[in-house]
Order: sequence, then structure tokens, then C-alpha cells
Amino acid sequence: METKVQKYLECFHLPLEKLQEISARLKKDFNRGLGKHTHHRAAVKMLPTFVTATPDGTEKGDFLALDLGGTNFRVLHIRVNEDEQRVMKSQNCAIPQEMMVGTGEQLFDHIAACLGEFVNSQDLKGQTLPLGFTFSFPCEQKEIDKSILIRWTKGFNCSGVEGEDVVKLLKEAIHRRGDYDIGSVAMVNDTVGTMMSCGYKDQSCEIGMIIGTGTNACYMEELKNVKRVEGMEVKEGENRRMCINTEWGGFGDDGALKDILTEYDEEVDRTSINPGIHTFEKMISGMYLGEIVRLVLVKLTQEKLLFNGETSKALLTPGTFETRFISEIEKEDKGVENTKKILADLGLTSNAVDLHIVRLICDTISSRSARLCAAALATIVNRIRVNRKLDHLKTTVGVDGAVYRKHPNFSEELQDMVRRLAPQCDINFIVSEDGSGKGAAMVTAVAQRLALQSRLLEDSDGEDDDDEEEEDN
Ligand code: BGC
Repeated sequence: METKVQKYLECFHLPLEKLQEISARLKKDFNRGLGKHTHHRAAVKMLPTFVTATPDGTEKGDFLALDLGGTNFRVLHIRVNEDEQRVMKSQNCAIPQEMMVGTGEQLFDHIAACLGEFVNSQDLKGQTLPLGFTFSFPCEQKEIDKSILIRWTKGFNCSGVEGEDVVKLLKEAIHRRGDYDIGSVAMVNDTVGTMMSCGYKDQSCEIGMIIGTGTNACYMEELKNVKRVEGMEVKEGENRRMCINTEWGGFGDDGALKDILTEYDEEVDRTSINPGIHTFEKMISGMYLGEIVRLVLVKLTQEKLLFNGETSKALLTPGTFETRFISEIEKEDKGVENTKKILADLGLTSNAVDLHIVRLICDTISSRSARLCAAALATIVNRIRVNRKLDHLKTTVGVDGAVYRKHPNFSEELQDMVRRLAPQCDINFIVSEDGSGKGAAMVTAVAQRLALQSRLLEDSDGEDDDDEEEEDN
């Protein structure tokens, strides 16, 4: 029985050489995404973020942060000082399913209302605090406070937002209310927030990675390689960097992953609300892993290799096998017990062999996800090492997302594999706590520090000018 099952699962196996090949393809896509003439058509967008510095530990102040990227969004009041970024208060607001696919105006009115309620309850109304806005969707950032949504992902599809400046939509919604105001806004992706919040603790943190509902990573790229940004000339020998939001979830949208896509991946894509988009993400992230497992379970049951050939209404219904079940089934100690309960709740009758096979399927799907992430992360660390002309790179990755955090051995498998794929890199992983919210505050704080430093610089230039004038006189 098990050998027959293995045959069906073979299509998910990715040996080391295949992962190396995938990493080499992604490397090419990175160049395409950064290129002046190639980025328009690139599957991996490599979006400039206008974040050009990581924290130096001197940032301070009070900030508001908004974190929108999943079915909930959060409002936070954050205080940054020399030794910590403290969440003074935070509040979760649900986003009802209808709102995720309603109009943009409804969505932003809802966000503005929740923010207003928070500001009121915290007595922050008169303060017009600067706001860090974590918006975890692919955006073409024009400036730190101007960001055009390229497309929705992860089940969102609100009308009238794609192609628009999201900061403007938020400000308009706040002005429509007219009962409070906000200060300057810095807009960030959740990967950038994660990198920045970890960067406060560990200044060698220059990569942020999310493996949750969606997946993505950002990293600090040499500005001279970011050919698609105009007007940021770099002088010879200057080491200026900019954080790039890779949007690696789009890898494969041009067919680059055709050879490893399975019939189950194709089905997940076909039945999603955005077919043909975010191919890589659909093989990796929490929004899709459970559904892949469900499709395999259905197939093996129809082939009479599971549950005595008997499916159930629940098993045949899309979305019923949640991604969190995979973690519960793969748990070392309680795995078998959990599996029994999950299958019974789905109306399935299982024996000991079924339990074993179901676990094997979950393990196969989560392991493929971890290995694919490892290949992508290896591409980034290898790139940073080559960029800096180093034989050996020591670096830190800030990570967040439920798949990485909650699965019993996902992080271990990912880390082992990256080390094999990037042997010249010594990588430290930090799980970020409240990363995207705190990170948004950090980006705002760093932007303020840089503005202050350049004002001081201008002032001291001014003093020199005065001196010169005096001499002239
Ligand atoms: C979005 C990214 C985001 C990632 C993780 C993807 O669907 O396109 O912008 O960083 O999810 O939340």
C-alpha cells in the first residue's frame, strides 16, 4: 500500500539538484525584476521600497501603526526608545469576508473607523502621531508615502484599489470622517516591517521573510543594481543600499516552474480568485497548503488507497482541510490523536494505515514548501554575498508567519536546506515578535532620524555659508 501511495507523492519530491536549478532560475528573475528595461514584464517584481537605512538604535518617539495583510488588521500604539520598541496598546479588528471582496471605499472607511476608535480610546486624538502603515500586498512604491497597489493577493479583491495610491485612499477615508488626523505616513510591506523590527535588536538583520497566509521576502540590495529607480545616482565606490521587496510569490507566473507544478497545484490555481497569479506562493503558503492536501486525499481515496475508498461530503468541499491541520497532524506527541479527530470531524472513517498515510501526505506537502522557501532564501543570501564580493557572508534573517512559527519542523527543514544550498553563508534566524507593526513604526522612526540628520547637516552647511559670507564681507 505504502509504495503505491509513494508513487502518487513522487511528483512533490524536490532533490537538492532540482532546488539548485530552481534557485538559479530565481537568480535570473531577480535580475530581470531589477533591470531598467526588463522589470515591466518580470514575474518577480523586485519592488523598490525607498527604505535606504536599517535602524541604528538611536531612533525614538511615539507612533501609530496599522497592519493590514490578512483576515484581521491591527492598530498599534508603539513607543520607540534607546533600548526597546514597546507596544503600548494594540487592537485587532476583523475584516468580514464580504469586505475583502467589496469596494475599496468600504474597506478604507472600515480601517479609518477602527483607527479612529483606537485613537479615541487611547486619548491620542490631539496628538497627530506619525503613522507606519504595513500593507502586505505588492505595491509600486513611488516614495515612502506614495504606493500604488499592483494587485490584490491572499483572497482580497476590493474594487477601485488596484492602480491607486493606497496612502491617499487611507487619508481620504480619514478626512471623510473629519474627527481626527494623523501625521506623516510611511508605507511598508510586512517583510520590510519584519526586517526593520529585528534590525533594532541585531543590526546585521538585512533580510525579512514571511511564510504565513502568503509568502515573500525583502533584502538590502546595492543601490547601483537597482536600475529601475530613476534619480538615485550612486557615486563610484559608494556603498548605498535600498531594501527591495522581492514579491517572490510571483515566481513561476511566466511558466518558469512548469516542470515542478503538479496536477494538484494546477487545480488550486484554477479554483483560486486569481488564476495564473502568485504561482510560487500557491505551492508554499498557508492560504493554499491545506487545500493541496485535501486534493491529494480525495485522489488517493478515489484510487482506493485511503478510507476504504469512501470520501465524505466535507472532504469533497473546497477549503475544509485547513492548513493548521497539517501542523496538528505532524506533531510528534499528539499527532495520531489529532489526526483521528480531524478525520472524524471531516466525516471520514480511518484505520491505523490511513492515519499513517495522511501524516505522510502532510509531511510531503509541508516539506516541499520548506524546501522551496529554502531555495528562494538561498538565492537571496548568495546574491548579497556576491554583491559584497565576500568569500563568506554572516547575516541575519527576520522571519514571521504562522507556517514558519507553528509547524513542528518547518523551520528546521528550511534552515538545514538553506545551509546546504548556500554553504558560504552563515545565517542567523530571528523570529520577529509583532514584527510588521513594530517594523512600520521603525521605518517611520528611521525616516524621521534621516530627515533630522539631513536638516542638521543643512544647518551646519548653513553655518559654513554664514562664515563664508562674513569672510566675503
Ligand atoms: C503579498 C506580499 C506579502 C506576502 C506575505 C503576498 O501575498 O503579495 O506583499 O509580503 O503575501 O504577507
